[in-house]
Amino acid sequence: SEENNLRPQHLEDYIGQEKVKQNLKIYLEAAKRRGEPMDHILLYGPPGLGKTTLAGIIANEMGVQIRITSGPAIEKPGDLAALLTNLQEGDVLFIDEIHRLSRQVEEVLYPALEDYALDIMIGKGPSAQSIRINLPRFTLVGATTRAGQITGPLRDRFGVLLKLELYSPDELSKIIQRSAGILDQPITPEGAYELAKRSRGTPRVANRFLKRIRDFATVLGDGIIDRDVALMGLKRMDVDALGLDELDRSMLRAIIEMYNGGPVGLETLAAALGEESVTLEDLCEPYLMQMGFLTRTPRGRCATRLAYEHLGLKAPEAAAPED
Ligand code: ADE
Repeated sequence: SEENNLRPQHLEDYIGQEKVKQNLKIYLEAAKRRGEPMDHILLYGPPGLGKTTLAGIIANEMGVQIRITSGPAIEKPGDLAALLTNLQEGDVLFIDEIHRLSRQVEEVLYPALEDYALDIMIGKGPSAQSIRINLPRFTLVGATTRAGQITGPLRDRFGVLLKLELYSPDELSKIIQRSAGILDQPITPEGAYELAKRSRGTPRVANRFLKRIRDFATVLGDGIIDRDVALMGLKRMDVDALGLDELDRSMLRAIIEMYNGGPVGLETLAAALGEESVTLEDLCEPYLMQMGFLTRTPRGRCATRLAYEHLGLKAPEAAAPED
């Protein structure tokens, strides 16, 4: 797919996440020198920051194959057993949304991670026996948007925990210019920067904007993405000056207009908006909090004074917390 073409294959082409990159480079190099598979790695952070991309890079740098699956896709212990027994020595198994594995499947995973072994029960009742099957040595790369929802025993079996952070506009601008180059799409630095500033710290959003603005440049412009085309297209897509979309704004507006600025519980808010709470939590909240528009308190979500100002609403006296 085109998303795949835009994915860097090597760590040195991966832009941003400098701390993660520097440490990962050491771990990969050390494992290679010792001729061992890489230790199991947990990647966590908001969606769209390049967790799958990084898993692909890890496999590529180790010179092994990657198998990609997700927590919800592994329904039964047998599904996991099938995946594990089909791996080759050193392979990377990537499990996205790993916090959604069932308890039963997790139990099968523990000896696989610790001893590269599968324990299988044969028979039922008093004559039941457990037999152990050896697996090839492999690397599990788990990814989650919610590190807090991973069970203790699973978390403890990862040797490397890497936290991905939202990207800066400068980093996103580099990612957009790199992607534009791959798509053979002319773009000015100013055009790239206008998209970057509104990409909510997220490469997936940046690359999506690039493809849509490319459409506006092709049909309504002269084929080049400059500042004017970028601004025109973003406006037509209802993306505001700070990158908030319709859902972000309606979330803030609901807190302000229906709940007097908060605090309001996430579930209440989700029901009022007709959205799922995980959508608001994973997609809207990381960026709204980073921008200082939203706070999370023990009693619920609050809109800040900045949120009122951004939406052009008058903040009541002392009703909206500063941060
Ligand atoms: N595409 C998605 N994430 C990226 C990154 N961090 N660097 C380069 N291209 C990307």
